Amino acid sequence: MSLPIQIVPSVLPADFSALGAACAALDEAGVDKIQWDVMDGHFVPNLTFGPDVIAACRQHADVPFEAHLMVERPDDLLHLYVEAGCEMLIVHAETTSHLHRTLGRIRDLGSQPAVAVNPSTPIDEVVQVADLLDMVLIMTVNPGFGGQKYISTMEPKIRELRRQLNEAGFPEIDIEVDGGISASTIAGASAAGANVLVSGSALFKYPEGLGHGVKDLRSIAEAART
Ligand code: DX5
Repeated sequence: MSLPIQIVPSVLPADFSALGAACAALDEAGVDKIQWDVMDGHFVPNLTFGPDVIAACRQHADVPFEAHLMVERPDDLLHLYVEAGCEMLIVHAETTSHLHRTLGRIRDLGSQPAVAVNPSTPIDEVVQVADLLDMVLIMTVNPGFGGQKYISTMEPKIRELRRQLNEAGFPEIDIEVDGGISASTIAGASAAGANVLVSGSALFKYPEGLGHGVKDLRSIAEAART
């Protein structure tokens, strides 16, 4: 039984002067949850959302929020993003030397733990902590900016992660991809085994609008499943 397809917008391309309205429009458009790309200017060369920005937007959407923590010291910030209303926290494996402890802390804070790996990071340590995970994010761009080109060589990595998680007895763990996901790239990621698909630029620029974009991306991803 395959996990349901989830279409998740990144609000990175949204109008930062009207983020609450953007969240309401995304909710209306039928997204499954909303991803906040949290960047600290150190782990990635960009600076974005503090917890207060997310807290201010919480009331404008009913769908879950997830914080994609592209930050050097995630352990110092976990509680702030949970208090801001994020149901899931995604930490980068590259930013903590005690990943098992960090994921356990997220669970203790009442949020869902997830881990992200950059294109060059192997998936081995992720499988070691699968018992603490609700989701694994395979980056399909180098993190820091939206609008980058999808790295299709990540598809074998997605396939291998799905195989290893299933083999280890964790078929219920979601696999998310993020970066360059559009109507022309989503099929490859879905066919490889990703069931949670983050789209920023392609969704916000969708010619027929957000609602059609969510619907079309979902049907392409569903049709691509082997
Ligand atoms: C990279 C960001 C982006 C963003 C989506 O650090 O995580 O991947 O969410 O960007 P698009 O969909 O515009 O490539």
